[in-house]
Amino acid sequence: MKNIKNMAIKIQSTNYEIEIGSILTSSFYDLITNRYQNRKKIIMVDENTHDCCLEFLITTYDSLSEAEVILIPEGEENKVMEVCLQIWSALSEFNISRRDLVINLGGGIITDMGGVIASLYKRGVNFVNIPTSLLAMVDASVGGKTGVNLDHFKNQLGVFSNPIAVFVDPSFLSTLPLSEVKNGFAEMLKHGLIADKNHWDVLKCMLPSEDIFGEKIISESILIKNQIVLSDEKEKNERKKLNFGHTVGHAIETYFMSSENTIKHGHAVAIGMLAESYLSNYKKLLSDNELKEIETTICQHFEIPDLAQVDSNVLFEIMSNDKKNFDSKIQCTLLKEIGVSLIHQEISFVEVNLSLEYLKSLKH
Ligand SMILES: NC(=O)c1ccc[n+]([C@@H]2O[C@H](COP(=O)([O-])OP(=O)(O)OC[C@H]3O[C@@H](n4cnc5c(N)ncnc54)[C@H](O)[C@@H]3O)[C@@H](O)[C@H]2O)c1
Repeated sequence: MKNIKNMAIKIQSTNYEIEIGSILTSSFYDLITNRYQNRKKIIMVDENTHDCCLEFLITTYDSLSEAEVILIPEGEENKVMEVCLQIWSALSEFNISRRDLVINLGGGIITDMGGVIASLYKRGVNFVNIPTSLLAMVDASVGGKTGVNLDHFKNQLGVFSNPIAVFVDPSFLSTLPLSEVKNGFAEMLKHGLIADKNHWDVLKCMLPSEDIFGEKIISESILIKNQIVLSDEKEKNERKKLNFGHTVGHAIETYFMSSENTIKHGHAVAIGMLAESYLSNYKKLLSDNELKEIETTICQHFEIPDLAQVDSNVLFEIMSNDKKNFDSKIQCTLLKEIGVSLIHQEISFVEVNLSLEYLKSLKH
């Protein structure tokens, strides 16, 4: 891992700071050696962050050499309560107390699950997140959502619970596979589309590769999400803007969860953004030109999955079970223009069908 010597950029979130830059220049050292001196540290990893990120951390920080490392099996199918139960048993065996510290070192699955595990264990152990995927850096690092899946429903169980700090070090991205970089890129594009045309204009000319590993562009994306979250922590209004692309995207992701062709969250969101941009245009909000611009940019980086066999009834049913709905109506965020989004837009079964047909037409 490369060491970048710049000072970390700090973003104040609800009641914790997100530090972006080399972890070496962040307050992480102070936290683990002073504030948590003599306290046990538990590091949550999956197989990949175990192999790619853990060694750097435990060899750099003496106070982590004795840390308990808990390996959570990689993959969305393991983001479930059954796995949490095993980890809670392990924490009990390690005699972990409420005054100890959980360090979540991984992508969004580790930070989401680690958040659930820490928040419920003995009514709450403090935790820090060190996101190592782009998606976890620009999206899961902000907003206090933790969660695990139940049956086919994503993040059906979880609590709002904030880490005490987040350390975003883009150096960790050097080992992240390109397909995973693209997942995070999709969320960055979303931030531009819903709230900041300048961010979109910069991103649309970038490649989802080392171009976007810079602290500046990552921090700009985090800042957009953070501003939205700060204005509406519990997702009553403004925060729903972040759901753009997620109504259709989430349903597609869930639909494929039980098949062999699972679709990654960010990829599904990219496809969902296409469908919802189409609906924005269909409802005479978004202009033809801007729809075309979004289509060209997203299709350049994300393949449209084969939706020929997708049953729109099932898709609609999944959407109907979405936590984001109100009054049994499917509520969606749509675009008025690039950089301006509208929440509480109702969509019908017919419109879901139309957006599916639109997506299929892009495949050819
Ligand atoms: N809490 C929130 O606000 C929020 C927001 C968005 C997404 N999420 C959740 O995040 C999850 C998706 O996150 P994700 O895309 O990071 O998934 P992930 O945690 O599965 O990470 C993606 C893959 O990259 C690997 N990886 C991570 N960092 C690596 C590194 N530095 N080097 C090599 N490999 C690395 C992981 O092992 C995994 O295989 C979903 O479960 C989603 O629900 C939560």
